[in-house]
Amino acid sequence: MSAPPLRLVTVDLAAVRHNIYTLGTLVDGPHVMAVVKANAYGHGAVPVAKAALAAGATYLGVADVTEALELRAAGITAPILAWLHDAEPNFDAAYDAEIDLGISSVEQLQSLSRTSARGENTIRFNSRAAVVHLKIDTGLGRNGALDSQWEELFELAEQREGEGLITVRGIFSHLSNTSDEEDVKQLAVFNGAVAMAREAGLNPEFRHLASTAAAIRLPETRLDMVRIGIGMYGLSPFFLQSSAELGLRPAMTLESRVIAVKTVPADTGVSYGYSYRTERESTLALVALGYADGIPRRGSNGAPVFIGGKTYRVAGRIAMDQLVVDLGSDTAEVGDRAVLFGDPALGFPAADDWASAADTINYEIVTRLGDRFERRYQS
Ligand SMILES: Cc1ncc(COP(=O)(O)O)c(C=O)c1O
Repeated sequence: MSAPPLRLVTVDLAAVRHNIYTLGTLVDGPHVMAVVKANAYGHGAVPVAKAALAAGATYLGVADVTEALELRAAGITAPILAWLHDAEPNFDAAYDAEIDLGISSVEQLQSLSRTSARGENTIRFNSRAAVVHLKIDTGLGRNGALDSQWEELFELAEQREGEGLITVRGIFSHLSNTSDEEDVKQLAVFNGAVAMAREAGLNPEFRHLASTAAAIRLPETRLDMVRIGIGMYGLSPFFLQSSAELGLRPAMTLESRVIAVKTVPADTGVSYGYSYRTERESTLALVALGYADGIPRRGSNGAPVFIGGKTYRVAGRIAMDQLVVDLGSDTAEVGDRAVLFGDPALGFPAADDWASAADTINYEIVTRLGDRFERRYQS
């Protein structure tokens, strides 16, 4: 392998496979949908999708049709569900690429029907029904049909199914993860919606509700399929339980290099605004990552960086392209690895440490990375 680039994300695909396998074994029966939206939470959609499928996932989940088409263009033939659509949805392209569509409203179902009823498309659609998963809002307040729309949605879906235009393969919803109690309430609402859909003549093969947190903690929400995102990347959805405690391995290591080292006297102001001053004579290491790379500025003065076998703290404000680490009386060499986060089992800080330093969640830390990183994969 060539010399590491200045800004490197390494993704351990063996960890992805391990995590899918571990969670698949835990849920014991239901299908596993690997959620690879947002470029697989920053890890790289195509390699992660392939690894997840190799480890037993049977479905892929993405936010929108564009993301689904990227997977198809890479030769991935597994079922893919896309659930977030524009006001003018690109259902034609989704149909041609055999992508399942999450349908959240009567309007979206009508739009799909209009597409299918257009001239030659009628023949196309009649020869192969468009595959639909009806999305139900059970209390999250985001996309998904509200209960006032269910009757109309289910009846229209049944009608279109009878006409051979669609197949309702799934019915699904998303939990708020507010508390176990709230999630169980949403499950009851969901079960009511499923009963209503069945009364309307629909017989969806896949009822799916749980993402990683509920799949782990609330067995009754696992139903026919679980949608696994954060857990596949080896990160914990819980504040009080680490990846390791869940048997998961963080897949992403994020690093750069020390590009300058200098020794400064006590009381030296560091970076913009001098929000940090050295307490004593100190060695400062300059690392080539900044907020342009998605490193949160909120991690200034405190977020961890691993250099030369030890973890130090960011000193002063994180700038656009650079950050400074105070090594105290230790030293470093220009060219040393500077790892912001990775697998704590290997001694690195956790993505969770960056999340708490920046007052955010591990999801955001891995997903927000900028374009300047090169991604490399370990298989
Ligand atoms: C509809 C839906 N299902 C599943 C997931 C995966 O969630 P998690 O990453 O918590 O497993 C997401 C992610 O936000 C989602 O939006």
